[in-house]
Amino acid sequence: MDRFAPLYQDHLATLTRRTETLLDREGLQGLVIHAGVPQRIFLDDMDYPFKANPHFKHWVPVTDNPHCVLLIRPSERPTLLFYRPVDFWHKVPPLPQGFWTDAFDIKVIEKPEQARALLPDNLSAYAFIGEPTELASQWGMGEVNPQPVMDYLHYHRAYKTDYELACMRIASEIAVCGHEAARDAFFGQKSEFDIQLAYLSATAQGENEVPYGNIVALNENSAILHYTALERVAPKQLRSFLLDAGASFHGYASDITRTYAFESGSRFAELVAAMNEQQLAIIDTIRPGMAYTELHLDMHRRVAELLSRFGLARGSAEALIADGVTAAFFPHGLGHQIGLQVHDVGGFMQDEQGAHMAAPEAHPALRCTRILEPGMVLTIEPGLYVIDSLLSGLSDSAKGMLNTSVIDELRPYGGIRIEDDVVVHGDRIENLTRDLGLA
Ligand code: GLY
Ligand code: MN
Ligand code: MN
Repeated sequence: MDRFAPLYQDHLATLTRRTETLLDREGLQGLVIHAGVPQRIFLDDMDYPFKANPHFKHWVPVTDNPHCVLLIRPSERPTLLFYRPVDFWHKVPPLPQGFWTDAFDIKVIEKPEQARALLPDNLSAYAFIGEPTELASQWGMGEVNPQPVMDYLHYHRAYKTDYELACMRIASEIAVCGHEAARDAFFGQKSEFDIQLAYLSATAQGENEVPYGNIVALNENSAILHYTALERVAPKQLRSFLLDAGASFHGYASDITRTYAFESGSRFAELVAAMNEQQLAIIDTIRPGMAYTELHLDMHRRVAELLSRFGLARGSAEALIADGVTAAFFPHGLGHQIGLQVHDVGGFMQDEQGAHMAAPEAHPALRCTRILEPGMVLTIEPGLYVIDSLLSGLSDSAKGMLNTSVIDELRPYGGIRIEDDVVVHGDRIENLTRDLGLA
């Protein structure tokens, strides 16, 4: 038997239970969840890569087939309308097979227009969850992406089932293979483009299959937070390499970053090692019941200490934080929830009604203020970069704390980020990335 079968059964039972509570609360008869429709490129006859509605792939590991529809009703087997066009231009998806299909009443549609007739005649007490909202109106849906329903689903999605954790362990495993191949390509002095090819080849995932555009950055480029340019030629002098790249499995993402110094012994190489120690140390402090914001603020104290220890800035940790010096070197959040989306929704939710807790004013890039509880999966990704536009925007008193000669020394190396994906359990923290042996 497929080892996913029992895990998936429990997963489905959890989703069913959650949905029944929701429907009861909202006085709804059911949910209609649409996978999505292809998006056409302006003035073109081709579509953007298809990305399935995350609510759809929460129920079924079908990530590459538009026009499919799920019908979820209490005490009834869920129905999947599975799109299989007659098409000689494109590959037609095979009929679904595998551990999950027995749980569904699967009906094949050859045309998107056939879906409506296979749904209940009267959908006025059903909520539609999906992107094609015009279609929902044509279908006579009672509600379309209603906020109370979305809030409930987004809040609860943070608590992963054992099936989801199993998928995320595999997504991590695939990404770690890619990271190892990419690291070897870097030390083999390949270009960013060739390192990207080595990564994709080792993961056997195309660039539209990995969960986000890989960040493959050599030297100064590693200080560009969302760098995706991929230079075709390797720089003459290699100094550093930052790789932020994940993988997908059954619709779930991993998100991993590593930074390498080309030569050991430099201040940069030592700073990478020290950041690695701090990243592991902060993961060690995670406990259920903590607010993610607490961890983020603690990381600023650790970054302040690194700035002093490595001679980039001088001053007390309090002053370096209060004057925005740590934020200039570490301008992004410590991390985010991850799952069906690499930046999983619901990071600011404090309850299932969607009560929002904003990030502290001085930390607008923080994407998660949730209280950590068992079942949550988060990234922990501290960084430290030389970003001139941020340093030059500092106040005069903050600039007075900077040591420009050390900053000048580190600028050609760009920056550092080290990112793992961790699971909060009741009695321990599981590190999905390090458990696979990636240093
Ligand atoms: N790869 C994007 C991020 O780390 O959040
Ligand atoms: Mn990342
Ligand atoms: Mn991340």
